[in-house]
Amino acid sequence: MKYNFQASYLIDAAQSLVVGAYLDCEHYYYLHDEAIQHCEILDYSPTHIRWNQIWRIFNFKIGHTLTTKYIPPATFINEKIQAFPIWLPSIHHIIKVESRSDFYYWDEKTTLSLFTVDIDMPWYVYPFRKILKYLILRFKILIDLEDVAMLARKTYLFGSKSVFHLLHKDQFILFKDEFVKSFGGTNPPLRPPPELQNNNYEHITEIKKPYIKKFMKTRYRELSGLR
Ligand SMILES: [Fe+2]
Repeated sequence: MKYNFQASYLIDAAQSLVVGAYLDCEHYYYLHDEAIQHCEILDYSPTHIRWNQIWRIFNFKIGHTLTTKYIPPATFINEKIQAFPIWLPSIHHIIKVESRSDFYYWDEKTTLSLFTVDIDMPWYVYPFRKILKYLILRFKILIDLEDVAMLARKTYLFGSKSVFHLLHKDQFILFKDEFVKSFGGTNPPLRPPPELQNNNYEHITEIKKPYIKKFMKTRYRELSGLR
């Protein structure tokens, strides 16, 4: 059975920085510990990556394998998610999840994030779809909040043009050539489609959910050094 949902909110950082943060593998080594501890790249092309996102437990690696697709300038699709190792009992053997993140230019310092999730599940999981939605959304929002805190610190230290370090020839980020084509020149930013332009969106840091309030009082301060 199919179930899908969308979530949208504003992120307090320039579109180029939000996209750059998504592509910057190095920050996984000090951020998003709960989501990803290590990455292993299995296959790579200018706009696709097949990779393992794993945790190490003693000498054992567990996690999931997925394909991330970049549609320049500011869209990402995560699909073909499997358990890793494949024999590991996992929710991925029961349900199929695909997600899409669109990051639209809102203004010079703000990005509109539109997160779309499609789940294919058996009938016996369907009654629990709202729980799945809560868990997926919580996972996504907490990762985004950590990035918001990281970007707030970068912007505080280096200004809103801190995208330049991602464009530097010696800086590795995923899909670098496509990123540079999109954000290294004078291309107009990707704006939201007309049906999304006149809505009122909440800023991610101000959404009234208990885990967001808790994050802002604790981890946000620690990561950003601000507030
Ligand atoms: Fe991140």
